[in-house]
Amino acid sequence: MKIAPSILSCDFSVMGSETERMEKAGADYIHLDVMDGHFVPNITFGAPVIKAIRPYSSLPFDVHLMIEEPYNYIDDFAEAGADIITFHVESRSDIEKTIEKIKAHGIKPGLVIKPNTPASAVFPYLKDIFMVLVMTVEPGFGGQSFMEDMLPKLKLIRDEAERQGTEILLELDGGINEATVSKAAQAGCDVCVSGTGVFKAVDAKQAIKRLKELSGDIA
Ligand code: DX5
Ligand code: ZN
Repeated sequence: MKIAPSILSCDFSVMGSETERMEKAGADYIHLDVMDGHFVPNITFGAPVIKAIRPYSSLPFDVHLMIEEPYNYIDDFAEAGADIITFHVESRSDIEKTIEKIKAHGIKPGLVIKPNTPASAVFPYLKDIFMVLVMTVEPGFGGQSFMEDMLPKLKLIRDEAERQGTEILLELDGGINEATVSKAAQAGCDVCVSGTGVFKAVDAKQAIKRLKELSGDIA
């Protein structure tokens, strides 16, 4: 299981060193939650902040856009150093055009679905994307409870990808911690985002190691 700590739960006064701390703790990706106060009822940070912390880690930056019009900001996030950009199927932008724009920058595109959106919403795009992110909380805030009833979506997406003869990385986001990670792993998750579960732990390295162990990984 790959672990992607969410910067949303870090100490915002020292975001660079917090990013560095996660790399040293054994993170696989850095997950960056961008919120615009429209698509979700919260505002976080944008491309300039991501650009500022980019030099603090060589890990892939997994940028999760919770914004109304992702298409209009792809150039900015590319320039800021994103490696993966995921955006919501529920956003207002044209999905195909946004995927193409992300790819034109040599960045890996992914689609995100909110809890009320069925897995089938991403089926038409599976051949064109690298990752599907299934939300296990309503997007907007860290520290919410894991919605276990979202897990069957993973198998539906995996099976459909197989049927289409394509591969897809499956990511879960929201409420993942020591109590829930094994359920995520059993359901077929490849990458788990964890905000509070890692950043608020006394020892981040131990927390990541523990999440990997509980998911069935040896190391
Ligand atoms: C929620 C964000 C998540 C959040 C996860 O909208 O997309 O990435 O930071 O935080 P935890 O792990 O605390 O639920
Ligand atoms: Zn996220």
